[in-house]
Amino acid sequence: MKKLHRIIAVTALVASATGAVAQNTQRGISERGIDGYRPTEQIVQRQAEFQDMKFGIFMHFGIYSMLGSGEWVLQTKAANFEEYSHYAGAFYPSKFDAARWVAAVKASGAKYLTFTTRHHDGFSNFKTSWSDFNSVDATPFGRDIIKEIAEECHKQGIAIHFYYSLLDWGRDDYPRGWSGKNTGRPGRCGPETYFEFMKGQLTELLTNYGEIGCIWFDGHWDHQYDPDFNWHYDELYSLIHELQPNCLVANNHHIDPIEGEDIQVFERDVPGENTTGWVKGGVSKTIPLETCQTISKDWGYDLNDNVHMTPREVVRYLVGCAGLNANLLLNIGPRPDGTLPEKAVESLAEAGKWLATHGEAVYGTRSTLLPPQKWGYVTENEKYVYLHLIPDMLAKTSFCNPSQGGSGEIFIPIPGLKPKSVTLLETGQPCKFKPSEQGVRIVVGEVPDSYDWIVKIER
Ligand code: GLC
Repeated sequence: MKKLHRIIAVTALVASATGAVAQNTQRGISERGIDGYRPTEQIVQRQAEFQDMKFGIFMHFGIYSMLGSGEWVLQTKAANFEEYSHYAGAFYPSKFDAARWVAAVKASGAKYLTFTTRHHDGFSNFKTSWSDFNSVDATPFGRDIIKEIAEECHKQGIAIHFYYSLLDWGRDDYPRGWSGKNTGRPGRCGPETYFEFMKGQLTELLTNYGEIGCIWFDGHWDHQYDPDFNWHYDELYSLIHELQPNCLVANNHHIDPIEGEDIQVFERDVPGENTTGWVKGGVSKTIPLETCQTISKDWGYDLNDNVHMTPREVVRYLVGCAGLNANLLLNIGPRPDGTLPEKAVESLAEAGKWLATHGEAVYGTRSTLLPPQKWGYVTENEKYVYLHLIPDMLAKTSFCNPSQGGSGEIFIPIPGLKPKSVTLLETGQPCKFKPSEQGVRIVVGEVPDSYDWIVKIER
């Protein structure tokens, strides 16, 4: 990581001179990243922009989509890799239209798309000189999916992030971890060539598709029982930062952030929760946070996966993340014919409509003033503090429900907060309030049923 340190040392000086670092500290990112890692001024700026975006869509797509059993089908069905690889010869998503996919992302109000370039099965959705097992060379479809997606994102103003699996169930030179053991591939051999392969592909991804917002790694846990395993992160991360100094690095490894990472990822859990039991680390206070979650059950298309989050659930989850100072990366799994499941698209579009009128309380905000409260969440920007009163949380308390004996008053324990005005975002109607040393008491009255009833406090 020598080169990276050099870049960082120089730009850190520039950053403190311009005050950019100090500014971002106020906006929730510390001037020091992870111990020893000092992100450049550009990265600090990109981290702030990333936090401002708040909402991204994840898409898992590949030849596994054809089997309709999620992206792990090779492992879950203990299928033979050689046999599985023949699906590439039938891969023809005839209705694939990058413009429509990106338009659906845009309609949801999401600001970025994280797309699978190569998943654990080793199939690359792009033209790569490092393997023939790719969408151009191995399929009758013959198209570079990543190129079409990236171009469309650039055109429609959606940031493009690349998911990249660290493991490969098909390659002979991938040093085998605990997964993919029944796919008929050999054991440990030639790891050096595997790392060269990954670096070669990352170089292609960061050279051929314009500006990439983030490289999002996955698969670290394949060697979780081998703590000495060396993923060569220093080389991978500095390669990324060298090729595209604005590109963020994320790794879904479930442990504490490692030097060189610019985002901390939480899988199927909001930061601080561990319902999955996968979380092995804490919550970073120095780099942005992102929770990835699926709108249905699986990440890749699943034939039996017909229950999708409702618009209310999408908004609820997004606001819950925002209230923990985290972004939400919400996944949909496109069908093998290249269409998107309608129910997912409808939910996202409805959530997008809500964001179009309530987005000021989400986009560009941070949540550093107060942790989640029993009634909901608090987000803020430089001018306003937003109280998100969440129906399912309110249902557990009567205080906002005067008709049920509640006071309809809410106390915000932010000492020193002296509002210029307090209004209901929905109606613009003013609320009575009373500041004190300890905080502010606000009369919110009866809270009607809504996705999220927002009180807007002008600071
Ligand atoms: C897990 C799954 C992987 C999926 C990822 C998304 O790591 O193994 O298939 O792509 O989560 O977060």
